[in-house]
Amino acid sequence: MSRTLPARRVAAPVPVDPAPAGRGPLDVLGVPGQVNLDYAATAPCARAAADAVAELLPWYGSVHRGAGALSRRCTLAYERARQRVGDFLGVRPDDHVIFTRNTTDALNLLARALPSGGKVVTFASEHHANLLPWPVDTVRLPVPGSADAAVRAVDAALRELRRGTDGSAPILVAVTGASNVTGECWPVADLARAAHRHGARFALDAAQLAPHAEVDITALGVDYVAVSGHKLYAPFGVGVLAGRADWLDAAPPYLVGGGATRTVGAATHDVGWADGPGRHEAGTPNLLGAVALAAVCEALTSVDRAALHAREQALLAHLRAGIAAAPDVVELRTFGPDSPRVGIVSFVVAGRDSAQVAAELAGRWQIGLRDGLFCAHPLARRLLAEAAVRSGRADLPPTALRASIGLGSTTQQVDRLLSALATPR
Ligand SMILES: Cc1ncc(COP(=O)(O)O)c(C=O)c1O
Repeated sequence: MSRTLPARRVAAPVPVDPAPAGRGPLDVLGVPGQVNLDYAATAPCARAAADAVAELLPWYGSVHRGAGALSRRCTLAYERARQRVGDFLGVRPDDHVIFTRNTTDALNLLARALPSGGKVVTFASEHHANLLPWPVDTVRLPVPGSADAAVRAVDAALRELRRGTDGSAPILVAVTGASNVTGECWPVADLARAAHRHGARFALDAAQLAPHAEVDITALGVDYVAVSGHKLYAPFGVGVLAGRADWLDAAPPYLVGGGATRTVGAATHDVGWADGPGRHEAGTPNLLGAVALAAVCEALTSVDRAALHAREQALLAHLRAGIAAAPDVVELRTFGPDSPRVGIVSFVVAGRDSAQVAAELAGRWQIGLRDGLFCAHPLARRLLAEAAVRSGRADLPPTALRASIGLGSTTQQVDRLLSALATPR
């Protein structure tokens, strides 16, 4: 029996600039007519990632589990990807580079690898991925008013934790490199130095920083770094935890199963666990995710990142200036208005429900952005309350909107959002 589908109602075409569709490795894929201003949630796919996956697909096979040519090639591709991603993140020779599912997974793995009795210090402004995996006695510092205040707060907290002790208990300070709510950059190198002054380690949540700026953990003095491939223009579902080997080799495997073992005897508990990244990568790994991410890392390494950064900063300045000028729009921020930030801006339209504004931007203007509290509820709520005080408006909504840009974003796309915000309902 055949069934006739009802004719789909097609919306009237709206002129927008097409997504850039070049062939360069850092051109991004997109759909003409759709304005993607939601890079902070998931960035579009870079050509480098798509090409690397397409090239490998005919060879697709098992990793670390086969003697045939396909499997050997895939194993080599996977281990090369580990090397390239490690180089991109500036790892030290003894560090491990462990493939995970995403930043959340990477930070959960690090939380499991904390030595027993280890303490964690973090800020209330973190993304839930860097708030929730840590032990219940974690010191959650209040949101600081400036980058300098953040460093002073870490210093004071560590002094307090070390008071009256012999200073040997493991402590981890875990902070984001760039806020997913405001885009503001945190003083990573200074925070890492403060941690080390007190014999603590420093973990960097680079989910939002790495797509926009160089993250070299050796140069920054960072002990661990976590990133997500899907925010770095590399879909296919991989993430990374890289850093000091000792805690990771001493910890129980994150997942148990094939690949994480050296030997398994007949008795249930007669298991010799592997050292190195394999210890925490049980099961067949995500080859395509790793290869896609490595391809983007390589492409980003071979371009002038300072020039990319300058271009993005110019576009961000244009976006923020437009938002500041738009009627009834109030920006959210933690630090001062001029503190360094990546291409992320959160804001509210006074008197308007943010979910409704987002739906209208999508439906009427083909603009995709994010609304809500951005998986950083404590911070977003606080910034909304502060924005109400700063703007003197009593009609700010309880959730916000977030526009985020990156490779492939254009002035026309930003202008489209600004026109939409300036257009009366
Ligand atoms: C700062 C920050 N950390 C961690 C995460 C979690 O990343 P994922 O969802 O890829 O695990 C995000 C995601 O938005 C983020 O913005």
